[in-house]
Amino acid sequence: MTSPQVPSHQVRIHYRQQDTFHTVQVPEDRYILHSAENQGVELPFACRNGACTTCAVRVKSGELYQPEAMGLSPELRQQGYALLCVSYPCSDLEVETQDEDEVYEQQFGRYFGKGKVRFGLPIDED
Ligand code: FES
Repeated sequence: MTSPQVPSHQVRIHYRQQDTFHTVQVPEDRYILHSAENQGVELPFACRNGACTTCAVRVKSGELYQPEAMGLSPELRQQGYALLCVSYPCSDLEVETQDEDEVYEQQFGRYFGKGKVRFGLPIDED
């Protein structure tokens, strides 16, 4: 049970793949994904520990705290991405789900799937 002294915030989630909107109330000391599930809102997830990026969203407004989001590069955090499974709200928030594998592609797409690799270096195809 949450202490009544802990402030909570309203989190509005646009689940883009289903084109549905959900509003949940999340205390500052609770993860957004877990709180949403407790309020009957099912969102994408896989690992639940900040590693896989399945639960990534774009933050449209507001602030959150995600110290355990190890699956997200500092650059993507600065661009406004967050992992809901390990995010705490710091204010009212508005977020939207990513396109499928959007964050994964942005982080790793430039390293994988770009031709043959030998000894860690790309091979010039010419
Ligand atoms: S569910 Fe894997 S990072 Fe959130």
